Amino acid sequence: MKKVLVVKANDRPAPLAVSTTMFETFMEEARQKEEWDVTVYDVFERDIPYFGQTYFDALERLENKEPLNEKEQSLIDHVNEALDLFLGADLIVFAFPMWNLTVPAPLHAFMDYIYQAGKTFKYTEQGPVGLVTEPTVVLLNARGGVYSIPETEHMDMGINFIRLSMQFFGVTDIREVIIEGHNAMSDRRDEIIATGLDEVRELARKL
Ligand SMILES: Cc1cc2nc3c(=O)[nH]c(=O)nc-3n(C[C@H](O)[C@H](O)[C@H](O)COP(=O)(O)O)c2cc1C
Repeated sequence: MKKVLVVKANDRPAPLAVSTTMFETFMEEARQKEEWDVTVYDVFERDIPYFGQTYFDALERLENKEPLNEKEQSLIDHVNEALDLFLGADLIVFAFPMWNLTVPAPLHAFMDYIYQAGKTFKYTEQGPVGLVTEPTVVLLNARGGVYSIPETEHMDMGINFIRLSMQFFGVTDIREVIIEGHNAMSDRRDEIIATGLDEVRELARKL
């Protein structure tokens, strides 16, 4: 069985939300794959807690064999679950929109969970080295404006953040479908979206 982790990062419904439609299109194909064991990790539905000092306090308490409070335990459980899923997957899919030039906050929290020295990367004298070299990663991203041209490329902190993070973790096999410009060029909205969804289907079938 191929272990597949699909990280869904939009709580807006399809077909209104384009990235949710990309997620659903991918899932339609995924359901056809008998050899896939798929886990959907919905960062909104899980209401995942922010990463911060609570986590470091919890680690210190665990080190000292002291009991954790509810908040600390919840964060530790969320981090461990996300890490186990991420490290155990052969194929990892992220479906997410651009919001305010970046990713929705709960997806950022998920990324904070999986940045773990010793697990997803390690420090060496030559600098950090990624430890997650095996999985294929698929990025499904929608953004209303156009960020694939030299004038605006640098403004995108969404897919660039996720792609760079995956590369930082050592992932080399990264596939992408980006649907963009459907708000900026609203007269071509339907065509842009339909073409992108075809690309999602085609990519999913080839995996
Ligand atoms: C809160 C919010 C912030 C957004 N910020 C941007 C943005 O910074 N740049 C952009 O091109 N589109 C922006 N959009 C439009 C979305 O990128 C666009 O709707 C795209 O399809 C992805 O969102 P969706 O999957 O919910 O449709 C924003 C939309 C919302 C709801």
